[in-house]
Amino acid sequence: MSQYDAIAHVYDRLNAELDYGAWADFVEANFARHLPARPSLVLDLACGTGSMTHELAARGYDMIGVDRSPEMLSEAYARAGETMPLFLCQDMRSFELYGTVGAVVCCLDSINYLTADGDLERCFSTVHNYLDPDGLFLFDVNTPYKFAHTYGDNAYILEDELDGRSIFCGWQNAFDPSSGLCDFYLTLFEEDDDGRFIRAEETQHERCYTHDALLAALEKTGFAHLDTYADYQFGAPTDTTERWYIAARAIKH
Ligand SMILES: C[S@@+](CC[C@H](N)C(=O)[O-])C[C@H]1O[C@@H](n2cnc3c(N)ncnc32)[C@H](O)[C@@H]1O
Repeated sequence: MSQYDAIAHVYDRLNAELDYGAWADFVEANFARHLPARPSLVLDLACGTGSMTHELAARGYDMIGVDRSPEMLSEAYARAGETMPLFLCQDMRSFELYGTVGAVVCCLDSINYLTADGDLERCFSTVHNYLDPDGLFLFDVNTPYKFAHTYGDNAYILEDELDGRSIFCGWQNAFDPSSGLCDFYLTLFEEDDDGRFIRAEETQHERCYTHDALLAALEKTGFAHLDTYADYQFGAPTDTTERWYIAARAIKH
């Protein structure tokens, strides 16, 4: 199965500890800090099940969500509330929009899913193409520290419940420091109506990027790096930071 096919319907349950309200507060604080005015149209790139897309839509932004997984997007559609973002099934390296947007956000290490040489530049260049002049690009990545120390070759089990039925998700990581590639082998056991557990498997791949590589790709594709933060309070990164939040401005002459 391709990435996210098997776990799309339990994805939000497995990530229930994430606070998208606080994250959206941070996104809006970045808009206030780095843009001259509140953007009206915002793209959520690799939006997945639309947690950030819906959170920002509820705050009055016109939202577009792009993701390449139909399964994740169908979860995003299913939770549509009073506002319905425009969801597009496209690749983040080559997507097409109807026009430019004021800001692009890309959350929860989706950038790390760009694993092939040149993917980062292809994605950043497409983002640049669809940003207004001086538009803001805000994304986060897992840091090299997290790949080496938290993921490594570790294994763990996530256990939860969905609609009264148990879910167990086994994760086995395999990180290769020489290539920077990290494979995640997921095995999902989901309780059925009759108490049996249905097994599904999928493999995901992330690539570890150094801060220098990210900044070089931004510069090459027409961005000015604004800042890198360690948390939602604009904290400065340290050697043990697990996630960098990077803000960049699209320069267009
Ligand atoms: C960790 S999930 C994050 C989803 C969402 N941003 C969130 O905060 O929950 C990564 C997402 O990236 C998407 N993705 C991975 N590679 C992609 C690509 N090349 N183009 C578009 N989406 C991609 C996956 O389908 C998945 O929905």
